[in-house]
Amino acid sequence: MPLEEINKEKDTSEENVLSEYRRFLPSEVHHELWTKEFLLFVENLSVSFDGFKAVDIPCFGIRHGELRVIIGPNGAGKTTFCDLVSGKTKPSTGSVYYDGKNVTNFEESDIALMGIGRKFQTPTVFDSLTTYENLMLALPGNQYWKNNLLRSESKEEKSKIEEILSKVNLSDSKDKLAKSLSHGQRQWLAISALIISKPKLLLVDEPAAGLTDLETEKTADLLMELAEEHTLVVIEHDMDFVRRLGQKVTVLNEGKVLAEGNLEQMEENEEVMEAYLGR
Ligand SMILES: Nc1ncnc2c1ncn2[C@@H]1O[C@H](COP(=O)(O)OP(=O)(O)OP(=O)(O)O)[C@@H](O)[C@H]1O
Ligand SMILES: [Mg+2]
Repeated sequence: MPLEEINKEKDTSEENVLSEYRRFLPSEVHHELWTKEFLLFVENLSVSFDGFKAVDIPCFGIRHGELRVIIGPNGAGKTTFCDLVSGKTKPSTGSVYYDGKNVTNFEESDIALMGIGRKFQTPTVFDSLTTYENLMLALPGNQYWKNNLLRSESKEEKSKIEEILSKVNLSDSKDKLAKSLSHGQRQWLAISALIISKPKLLLVDEPAAGLTDLETEKTADLLMELAEEHTLVVIEHDMDFVRRLGQKVTVLNEGKVLAEGNLEQMEENEEVMEAYLGR
């Protein structure tokens, strides 16, 4: 097939994948139409690093209450997408809409305060604080505390912390320093801190990285439980983990949305399999 035709076919497939979003472009439709449906929407979003487009997405969104999984080979732009949404990286073109507002030029800290919480690829916990103190620090309001002193927790907050600690089996480790926890426990502490900060949208980057099979299963169950009350975007490489979540999957490749559907459909999709195996 001539290259032009191959490219044309690719354009058509992107057109198809994105058609469900195209009806909601915030720049074109009435505000209420997209805000009712989507918590997060990006339009014409791209970022270039030295002329190389790391993310290039005409339109894409996450619906209220959804748990969406994003997969894709190394360097596909998954983490960069999260950086754009959370305001860590400013886009070269396009807009990020969140919770009814255009937040494209908002500071990262303001976007965090608006309720977008992140768990980074490498879990960030404070090593010199105890498990419990890490969760105290995550309480809404404490991240921006200027005196280096934590405000004391309310009764409800204390019971919320205790509840989460028991859910992730960290109750017995609550007075241990975070640096003495295992890798799996640190992942759970980072996810717990995220929950305590009460985000509306959680971006969870590779929660299963470096975990044992058993820990991976537990993490999947924890995220499923979280999904009952939150809108979540989970980025993951581990296919068993993705299978266990059993949710709609978006495949990113070379900064673009390549396909969407359930995991079985993705596994039958030649383009998707090529993108994975081609690396
Ligand atoms: N700040 C930056 N400056 C220059 N290039 C960058 C920057 N951030 C990301 N990139 C490049 O953008 C591309 C996408 O990277 P990104 O980290 O988003 O991929 P990823 O899908 O998260 O991959 P992985 O699965 O390995 O975590 C890569 O080629 C990366 O080198
Ligand atoms: Mg990444």
